[in-house]
Amino acid sequence: MKLKQLEGLLGTLQQFSCPKIELEQYPTGPHISSRMIYMAENSFGDISNKVVADFGCGCGTLGLAAGLLDAEHVIGFDVDTDSLEIATANAEDLELDMDFVQCDVKNLVLRGQIIDTVIMNPPFGTRKKGADMDFLKMALKVASGAVYSLHKTTTREHIKRAALSDYAAGSAEVICELKFDVPKLYKHHKKKEVDIAVDLWRFEPSRN
Ligand SMILES: C[S@@+](CC[C@H](N)C(=O)[O-])C[C@H]1O[C@@H](n2cnc3c(N)ncnc32)[C@H](O)[C@@H]1O
Repeated sequence: MKLKQLEGLLGTLQQFSCPKIELEQYPTGPHISSRMIYMAENSFGDISNKVVADFGCGCGTLGLAAGLLDAEHVIGFDVDTDSLEIATANAEDLELDMDFVQCDVKNLVLRGQIIDTVIMNPPFGTRKKGADMDFLKMALKVASGAVYSLHKTTTREHIKRAALSDYAAGSAEVICELKFDVPKLYKHHKKKEVDIAVDLWRFEPSRN
């Protein structure tokens, strides 16, 4: 599938109807999500024929992008049942098989190394300190191949140190810096939309 076609299909998906600020529910727009997953596939071969987990899947955008690029199996994890209902409807609309699991990512227990690739746009930890690191720690624990994640550029050094030293990643690379546009979703938002500088990371777990 071509990049533009992927972006177009992701643009048809329903997003959070009543976003929950405490869970930092911001959708990843079709421009960023299509490029993130397209690059994971076309530059690194981490999507097609792989088992892919979408952590904090929300309405399913990243996981469904992986499904559209021929992932063998995609599982979306989110703590919020309302989002999972929307994600399920989105999967039906695209006629894609994707499994959804309602759970807190930091309590995830999986038997065996069943996941090849984790893709995620985690909470940035602005509402619940450390939420971003909980996601990263678990992603590096369960992925056997690679982890793709978005984090605020201001946290770059912290992310690198934690990934390599505390979570024993084999590698941690910023693939590109992006402008993530957050639309006016919540009452405390004053502007129509705000751009946040965000890094797209690719991590590899340790091979030991
Ligand atoms: C920034 S949104 C990203 C949503 C979606 N992946 C996307 O890219 O559009 C973060 C998501 O993480 C979920 N979330 C927050 N804390 C969580 C937790 N502890 N465990 C699982 N999901 C969580 C939220 O419900 C929300 O859907």
